[in-house]
Amino acid sequence: MTVPNPELIESYLRQLFGEEDDALIEIRSNTMDQGLPQINITPEDGRLIQFLLRACGARRVVEIGTLAGYSGTWIARALPEDGRLITVERDPYHAEIAQESFDRSGVAARVEIRVGAALEVLETLSAEGPFDGVFIDANKGDYPRYLDWAVENVRMGGIILGHNALWGGAVVDYGLRPGTDLDALLAFNRQIANDPRLLGMIIPLGDGLAAALRVG
Ligand SMILES: C[S@@+](CC[C@H](N)C(=O)[O-])C[C@H]1O[C@@H](n2cnc3c(N)ncnc32)[C@H](O)[C@@H]1O
Repeated sequence: MTVPNPELIESYLRQLFGEEDDALIEIRSNTMDQGLPQINITPEDGRLIQFLLRACGARRVVEIGTLAGYSGTWIARALPEDGRLITVERDPYHAEIAQESFDRSGVAARVEIRVGAALEVLETLSAEGPFDGVFIDANKGDYPRYLDWAVENVRMGGIILGHNALWGGAVVDYGLRPGTDLDALLAFNRQIANDPRLLGMIIPLGDGLAAALRVG
C-alpha cells in the first residue's frame, strides 16, 4: 500500500474536524504574542479528546500542563455545564494567560487552574478524586509518574490521555530525539499497552494520542 502524504491527510482531517471558533483562534495567536511556546495540541487533537471524553461521560477531568489554555478550552467544552476541569501548571505566567483564555472562551466557570509543580499538586488532588479523565501534556520525563497517579485516581471506565506519545517519530527511530524524555515516553507507552488495569492504544493522529480506559 502506498502511504499518502501525511501533510495532506492532516489538512484533510483539520478541514473536516478541526474547526475553531474565534476564541480558539485568538487563544492560539495570543500564545504567540505573549511569547509562550507554540506546543499546544492541534484542533483535530482537540476534537478527538472531546470525542473520547464525551464517550465515557466525563464530568470531572484533570489536565497536567495548561500552557495558555488551548487544550483546556477544548476539554472544558466537552464537559456538562456543571462539569469541572482542574488544570495544573507550573509557570505562573502561563497560568495568567490561560485564565484570560478561559474567560475569553466562556468556560471559566468550570475551569480551575492550580499553579505548582504537577507531582506536588497531584498529591493534594488525590483527596478530590476519583476523576473521570486525566489528560497528560507536561514535561515528558515525568510521564510514567503522571500515569501512575492517573491509574490510581480515575474511576473504573474513566479515561487517561497522553499527548506526544509518538514523540516526533523517535519512539521508532531513537536517534531522532535520544535522551531521558524518550526513555520516559517509551516506558509510558509500554505501560499504556501492558498494564492489566488499562485497555490502551496510541491513536496515531499528529504526534500521537495515547488513550487508555481504566478496566481493572
Ligand atoms: C505542552 S505544554 C501544554 C500545552 C497544552 N496542554 C495545550 O495543548 O494547550 C506543557 C505545559 O506544561 C507545563 N509544565 C511543564 N512541566 C511541568 C510540571 N512539572 N508541572 C506543571 N506544569 C508543567 C509547562 O510550563 C507548559 O505550560
